[in-house]
Amino acid sequence: MIEFEDLGKANAPFFAAYGRAFEGVLRGGRYILGDAVRAFEADFAAYCGVPHCAGVASGLDALTLALQSFGFPAGSEVIVPSNTFIASILSVLHAGLTPVLAEPDLRTYNLDPAGLAERITPRTVAVVAVHLYGKCCDVPRLEPLARQHNLKIIEDASQAHGARIGQRKAGSLGDAAAFSFYPTKNLGALGDGGGVTTRDAALDGRLRTLRNYGSAEKYYNDVPGYNSRLDEMQAAFLRVKLARLDEIIAHKRQLAALYLEGLKEDFVKPVVEAGYFDVYHIFNVRHPRRDELRAYLLNNDVKTEIHYPVPPARQKAMRGLVDHFDCPVADTIHQTTLSLPISYAHTPGDVCRVIEVLNRF
Ligand SMILES: Cc1ncc(COP(=O)(O)O)c(C=O)c1O
Repeated sequence: MIEFEDLGKANAPFFAAYGRAFEGVLRGGRYILGDAVRAFEADFAAYCGVPHCAGVASGLDALTLALQSFGFPAGSEVIVPSNTFIASILSVLHAGLTPVLAEPDLRTYNLDPAGLAERITPRTVAVVAVHLYGKCCDVPRLEPLARQHNLKIIEDASQAHGARIGQRKAGSLGDAAAFSFYPTKNLGALGDGGGVTTRDAALDGRLRTLRNYGSAEKYYNDVPGYNSRLDEMQAAFLRVKLARLDEIIAHKRQLAALYLEGLKEDFVKPVVEAGYFDVYHIFNVRHPRRDELRAYLLNNDVKTEIHYPVPPARQKAMRGLVDHFDCPVADTIHQTTLSLPISYAHTPGDVCRVIEVLNRF
């Protein structure tokens, strides 16, 4: 059986280093916001090419606290893609703002700047630019619109650690960027974690206060904040992984190249564009008989996933909370997409086997 994901196997090369990291934190005796969090924040900010990173408890919190840190008037509108993971939209709601959906480009699965313009109103304050599946959203094409309408760009880089457009890395493209370190991510922890990168020192300061009970100085609370700190132990593990992130990405790009080259044209493959460095958190194909294809693969010992089966606007949780916007592009993606095995634990041999099975479909 070729698993879709085997985190034990994918993390095995790091076990010894994780053990040393665990031991270091354990013996250090500082378990909240200690040296490991500080060091990871500095390392990850440098990796993204920005001066600041604040570690928080999850990717959802990274987005929510980033949005709150801008201090937008309550109820302001924030544009979000119609085909993202629900967290991108929940964060807007949790920050007391109004999500407005916009359709993606069917080629890239990321926000279509042309469609987005139609969704801007006088109440719009920001755009959440999701870098879905590990490909950067075309932020350079969003920038003139954002300038014209005075909008902030918040990257949802939860699936795109290390992705780039030219030399501009995810995490440095917008006014702020939110990352998830959920264990399956290319830069995954051994539990939950998140981070916000930015060039804006004041924003970073507000975010650090918000994540820690609204307190910059212990027991003095300036704003009603949260307990949303990146865990010290997770930060220590993340430092181990970050040192090997480029190697993990190179491995996944090698597997993606095999799929791109080997899969027959019946499958809609991820688009490869000049200047884009994609990191393939997910490698998806689209096919009109997706469910049949998935069952066929399982019969042939290949496990797959669907990211995602139901568009956020059609989720029960969203009833009455997002506008009744028709999302035919999002519907098409959700009905036809299938994610193939691609991880640090998979070998080129595994991928060639998947290709061979797929090409017989
Ligand atoms: C696009 C996107 N945004 C946000 C999140 C939320 O991250 P977390 O699960 O760490 O809260 C995720 C991942 O789960 C994601 O894929």
